[in-house]
Amino acid sequence: MTDFPQQAHLISTEDGSFSLFCEEIGECYHSRFGAKSEAMGLYIRASQIAERWRNASPLYVLDVGLGLGYNALCTLESWLADPQAAAPLCLTSFEKNQALFNSLRIVQGPWQVNWPESWRSWIQALAPISALHSTTSGEVWKAHIPHPTRPIACEWTCVTGDIRETLFAHAPSSGWERIWYDPFSAKKAPELWAAPWLTQLRTCVAPSVTLVTYSVARSVREAFAQAGWSWEKVPTDTGKRSWLRVRRNDFPSA
Ligand SMILES: C[S@@+](CC[C@H](N)C(=O)[O-])C[C@H]1O[C@@H](n2cnc3c(N)ncnc32)[C@H](O)[C@@H]1O
Repeated sequence: MTDFPQQAHLISTEDGSFSLFCEEIGECYHSRFGAKSEAMGLYIRASQIAERWRNASPLYVLDVGLGLGYNALCTLESWLADPQAAAPLCLTSFEKNQALFNSLRIVQGPWQVNWPESWRSWIQALAPISALHSTTSGEVWKAHIPHPTRPIACEWTCVTGDIRETLFAHAPSSGWERIWYDPFSAKKAPELWAAPWLTQLRTCVAPSVTLVTYSVARSVREAFAQAGWSWEKVPTDTGKRSWLRVRRNDFPSA
């Protein structure tokens, strides 16, 4: 069994979905306005991903900080529910906290109690990849999830370990086209919001990439700009004022 979530306590967010408060970091995994609403509003709608997956070429989505699974599962749910989806979906989620991933994978997390059967089944479809293919620093798990009405499928890969060590072994040659950028805040966990890392991240994205994140902190905007990205604030459909949509500065309006 895992030692998780002993360092965390359960929070009920305003849309009825559950989240956790992480004691070690001193921060909640989601906005109090709603774990699921934020996943749908920011990562699905504000990223305009549905427009992209109606075009048939394979779509590579990078999920930074799988955490409690909401962003990944809302991505899967939305793609599976779209009768016009044409793109095979390659979703890769990275998570540093092995114990948290273990809880999520066996569907034993307290935040999962009111999850639909479909979410549970997609999580339970994850199977370990042999050690031969796994990276030195983490485990790799994969699920193959066919679309119910279209001749396409989603390959969902979960990689444990620090993304700064594991990302490049999993980067697609055509580059990531959508990025769900959801680490803890820059104040609490600055390493993934620093310009040198954001510069490295930019080397494995497609020209048309759209990165979305909840943080509009000045230090975050400055770090993206320094690292060769351009950003815009987008209005939210929750109680928060704005989110951030980020693109390569050489393809700003892709
Ligand atoms: C705010 S939570 C993400 C919530 C999640 N996206 C969801 O939908 O439930 C941030 C997550 O990023 C993970 N994380 C932080 N630093 C990381 C790193 N260097 N590499 C991989 N994961 C990291 C944390 O362990 C945590 O689970």
